[in-house]
Amino acid sequence: QPLTSGTVSWQSPSNIALAKYWGKYGEQLPMNPSISFTLSNCNTRTSLSFEKKNSDGFDFQVFLDGKREVSFEPKIQKFFERVGVYLPFLKDFKFKIETSNSFPHSSGIASSASGMSALALCLMDMERQMQPDITDGYFNEKASFLARLGSGSACRSLEGPLIVWGEHAEIEGSSNLFGTKYPFEVHENFKNYQDTILLVDKGEKQVSSTVGHNLMQDHPFAEQRFRQAKENLSKLIPVFKNGAISEFIKIVESEALSLHAMMMTSMPYFILMKPNTLEIINHIWKFREETGSKICFTLDAGANVHVLYPETEKGTVLQFIKNKLSQFCKNGEFIEDETGLGASKI
Ligand code: PMV
Repeated sequence: QPLTSGTVSWQSPSNIALAKYWGKYGEQLPMNPSISFTLSNCNTRTSLSFEKKNSDGFDFQVFLDGKREVSFEPKIQKFFERVGVYLPFLKDFKFKIETSNSFPHSSGIASSASGMSALALCLMDMERQMQPDITDGYFNEKASFLARLGSGSACRSLEGPLIVWGEHAEIEGSSNLFGTKYPFEVHENFKNYQDTILLVDKGEKQVSSTVGHNLMQDHPFAEQRFRQAKENLSKLIPVFKNGAISEFIKIVESEALSLHAMMMTSMPYFILMKPNTLEIINHIWKFREETGSKICFTLDAGANVHVLYPETEKGTVLQFIKNKLSQFCKNGEFIEDETGLGASKI
């Protein structure tokens, strides 16, 4: 169907990995499988307006919260170059990309997963308007595939609450090319799992995740690390089924520390944790020991701490965060989130 102009809008959440992706090859393909909780409150809303054009090349402008944001344009240019191969119509349109995040832009929370998945969905929406017979399965798979080309972990943000990305022998349908829904039984202990994000450092990261991934190429512990992530994902399968949160904690915290251990043993080496990251971790361990709580932490490629806990502990843990942990956050700030079901059209 001929398409001349229009607007499509999608909202997509962020996600937090439990078994981490760190190290890639080829065109944004992961060296090991990963699994993440899709979040709910931390999300990006993107509107894509398009108009047919005749000139050559990509033509787009990016607006963040209503203001032109030129600093985003090189990243989008690169994204368009990569996905243009799979979306030949891209060069036939002039685009206006209007985006906003539910969380503060400079909070240190990466908007790349939510932002790239929202944009990929807008582009797939256009493709579906031109080819109305494409199936939901094809739509989701290709949208995740395209999101991956923007930012690897973005391919895990389209659906929820648990998404696997990367081939794993025990998980049928898992692929390096796109994220898929975790296909096995999940105990109700993990329903509406809570993630309160403690904002320790809002600054720009000293080392980008692109650089970090690349440093895994000559990393002395790379093979061992890729094997460990795969094994941890295997171990999570019975844990999700039986609801064994104590086992879940061991795997998830070890994954977070292993990720940062890779950074500390890269050449050049670097540290993304801050003193307050460690303060928080120690207080979480102490609280768990003293109260028997099932609270735990995970980290992504930064200093902020994701505090994970079952919904049944929401009251007590939030009290603990307010009374104790918030003093280690920039301006006492944290974001309350929980698992969610993924992206939606708006
Ligand atoms: O998607 P990227 O390239 O920003 O890498 C994300 C890497 C981690 O957040 C550290 C781990 C993960 O699996 O999300």
